[in-house]
Amino acid sequence: MSEEDPRILELRAMREKTRQGGGEKRTARQHAKGKLTARERIALLLDPNTFQELEPFIVQRADHLDSSDDPYLGDGVVTGSGKINGRTVYLYAQDFTIMGGSLGEMQSRKITRVMDLAVQGGCPIIGLIDSGGARIQEGVRSLGGYAEIFRRNAQYSGVVPQISLILGPCAGGAAYSPAVTDMIIMVDKQSYMFLTGPEVIKSVTGEVVDFESLGGAEVHLAVSGIAHLTTRTEQDALATCRSVIGYLPSNNVENPPFENTGDDPERMEESLNHLVPANPATPYSMHEAIEKIVDTGSFLELQSRYACNAIVGLARLGGNSVGIVSQEPNILAGIVDIDAADKIARFVRFCDCYNLPIITFIDSPGFLPGVDQEHRGIIRHGAKILYAYAEATVPKVSVVTRKAYGGAYVVLSSKYMGTDVTFAWPSAEIAVMGPEGAANILYRKQIDAAEDPEAERANLTEEYRKRFLNPYAAAQAGYIDDVIEPRETRSKIITALSAIRDKSVSTLPRKHGNMPV
Ligand code: HXC
Repeated sequence: MSEEDPRILELRAMREKTRQGGGEKRTARQHAKGKLTARERIALLLDPNTFQELEPFIVQRADHLDSSDDPYLGDGVVTGSGKINGRTVYLYAQDFTIMGGSLGEMQSRKITRVMDLAVQGGCPIIGLIDSGGARIQEGVRSLGGYAEIFRRNAQYSGVVPQISLILGPCAGGAAYSPAVTDMIIMVDKQSYMFLTGPEVIKSVTGEVVDFESLGGAEVHLAVSGIAHLTTRTEQDALATCRSVIGYLPSNNVENPPFENTGDDPERMEESLNHLVPANPATPYSMHEAIEKIVDTGSFLELQSRYACNAIVGLARLGGNSVGIVSQEPNILAGIVDIDAADKIARFVRFCDCYNLPIITFIDSPGFLPGVDQEHRGIIRHGAKILYAYAEATVPKVSVVTRKAYGGAYVVLSSKYMGTDVTFAWPSAEIAVMGPEGAANILYRKQIDAAEDPEAERANLTEEYRKRFLNPYAAAQAGYIDDVIEPRETRSKIITALSAIRDKSVSTLPRKHGNMPV
């Protein structure tokens, strides 16, 4: 057998060196923390044997190295393309074993190259983030590197889906890159995001806090609302990313992929006819309604622990991806407050970017009254919802299940906000306001003059309820397209969607609107 050409041997040795990242010791440290390496993560994220690596031999500029340094090949990030369920994605995975995955000029160039290729090819871009932030030794060049990434995050927003998995530290201004992307997935007790760390906070404000309680997954899921999804392990995070990609088109001109879920589009869900209690003050679970209406097991709730009075998530109906927006009557009666408004508005815009029809289930008494909410700008935040719905050109279907009072009715996908098909259940109460408030305003003089004002108030409230709190006043006036039995909601929505799937909407020429933010 002839001997191998030394040039081939050299290539093999170089390739092996790239695979070793920061070396055995640092890899062992990464594993000891319960974390995978960049390459192990990529192997789990992608379909087997589909990864095509790019620029594995890039190194730092010579003037950033001491003459004795042997530079790390790849510069702390592994980049390239691969497939998820047969569809191409681009990705970058920061390698914490090389200078803590810190971002320098060449790492930034590698990342921005895959971002550019993703957009040119109309493919999603996925960032696996595990980094100490700006590489201190590279000074302004590393800051400039972040600017190159941020600019693309913003310019490519709404062109291809961008998903960020935070699998370790994501500190300082670096956190702004995932913040601009469409979705953030974090891992419990492993990932954290913050702008200023515990040390800086202590010196500036005197507060003492650790990484986890400052910016861990739990905090960003339940308190800040920054994380869309969190998982127990990073293996779960990678699997979750695969399933998120399954709901989304590869870019803004494609439709989301169809997946045969095997769930009968005509399936009647008898139990829904008994879901809404006769007493309007008794709550019920909107989550239960959603789970029963969409294809079985397909509902993927986002931001599930933030502003829980609102519900947003991805699902499939008859195999097609949709976005679900709703309120949870079990929590604050489904009222819309500032956080709920932000959550709903951003999700509606996300759906509109990626051709996901929006299905809105409405049960809300309206916007949260209160000095605090007014002073914090519920007018501005609430306006985001109506702006987002009015601007969205995707197919939109709404179902009023119970309360749709005042602003909640108008902004949450009412017919004249541009909803294509509007349904109501027989339990729907579409009115300017709830019965007690309305009776007090309409009949104050009559109540005050009555012999027994409380009895009179109760009578008049009941009268108002009978007259206005039903779906038929709205249906007779043409504000609701149809009143349907709850059990047939699934088939009604699927039929409506198939009729409006190819709707075309022309918009006025403009640079972009000026949404209240
Ligand atoms: C260069 C870095 C680095 C950085 C870590 N390392 N962060 N090298 N620049 N920013 C190196 C370490 O020197 C070490 O090298 C290796 O990575 C692992 O780091 P450790 O500290 O040993 O790991 P650990 O104990 O797990 O702590 C991780 C860490 C800590 C919490 C992330 O490293 C840390 O606090 N780093 C600095 C974080 C930071 O302040 N970054 C700047 C943020 S400001 P060796 O050789 O020992 O393996 C910013 C501005 C962006 O990012 C602005 C954009 C607008």
